[in-house]
Amino acid sequence: MSDEFVVRNENILHSGMFHPTLRTWQGLQCNIGPENFMYPVFIVEENNAIQPIDSMPGISRFGVDSLKQHLQPLIAKGLKSILLFGVINTLTKDDNATHADSPQNPVIKALPKLLEWFPDLIIACDVCLCPYTSHGHCGMFNNDGSLDNTSSIRRISKIALNYAKAGAHIVAPSDMMDGRIGAIKTELVNNGLGNKVAVLSYTAKFASNFYGPFRDAAKSKPAYGDRKCYQLPAGGAGLALRAAERDVSEGADMLMVKPVMIYMDLVRQIKDKYPERPMFVYQVSGEYSMIYNASVKGTFDLRLGLMEIFSSLRRAGADVIISYFTPLVLHWMSQPK
Ligand code: PBG
Ligand code: ZN
Repeated sequence: MSDEFVVRNENILHSGMFHPTLRTWQGLQCNIGPENFMYPVFIVEENNAIQPIDSMPGISRFGVDSLKQHLQPLIAKGLKSILLFGVINTLTKDDNATHADSPQNPVIKALPKLLEWFPDLIIACDVCLCPYTSHGHCGMFNNDGSLDNTSSIRRISKIALNYAKAGAHIVAPSDMMDGRIGAIKTELVNNGLGNKVAVLSYTAKFASNFYGPFRDAAKSKPAYGDRKCYQLPAGGAGLALRAAERDVSEGADMLMVKPVMIYMDLVRQIKDKYPERPMFVYQVSGEYSMIYNASVKGTFDLRLGLMEIFSSLRRAGADVIISYFTPLVLHWMSQPK
């Protein structure tokens, strides 16, 4: 045989992957279990409601009582954490986002019940103004139309505090105002909750075309304009790294990249820079619908395709995956292979 076809001893890769167990050893840090998932849930005012969301096949908004029925079997299959989004319909939206944390807010009302029903479940609450403001933006504005960052973080930190007081284990601000992590931490500490509530920062949240179905679900579409002055530009790797540096310095307990599949370079870079903080990734509504629809079209088998995606997210540095597929994944994991 001519020399050019001889594989050198140290270049033989197949010897490390000819058996399923050998293949598992090649990526143990990519293993996935129930603890690697957080399940986003939309909660509405009417206790018994189940409202399917057209743009997200298989996903519904729930009232608190129907949510109980929905979560029970998932917890039996190992569900560890949920992320709550309040959606209002009859309550009014205004400039101050009054109903973000009023006693009638569906998240505020649901928290004590969920804590009682599911004492081992970790409950995170998304903190933002957009589902509750008349204009549907994530912050408040000055008269000249510019963002009023100071008023915004004052209001956002109060909402976070009220979710914490109602029992949230984690508050997760998705507004992308500057300095909100520090403002929230200070409120928590000043109210004796500093060591009882974690802050999960939506650190690198991009102004994305993949949030469309969510805005239907949360009824949070901006009435005018877009979110490009506060969410990151697609090419903004520098801003994403600066956001991570800032949020870490302000005391964020956990970091996030969102959306995930087209921003995995930043998952790796931020994880490498801050390995001591759990790294969350949000597989957003548009990614959910895209993957689901591709599987319906026969592009790939949903289970196999998703498992490949989840291994890849873990390989890129994700510790926890926020995914609307969580119920399905738990179902698969609880079944024999
Ligand atoms: C709102 C918010 C959004 C998402 C989470 N919180 C959308 C937005 O910024 O308009 C997106 C989640 C998803 O698409 O699944 N602050
Ligand atoms: Zn928002």
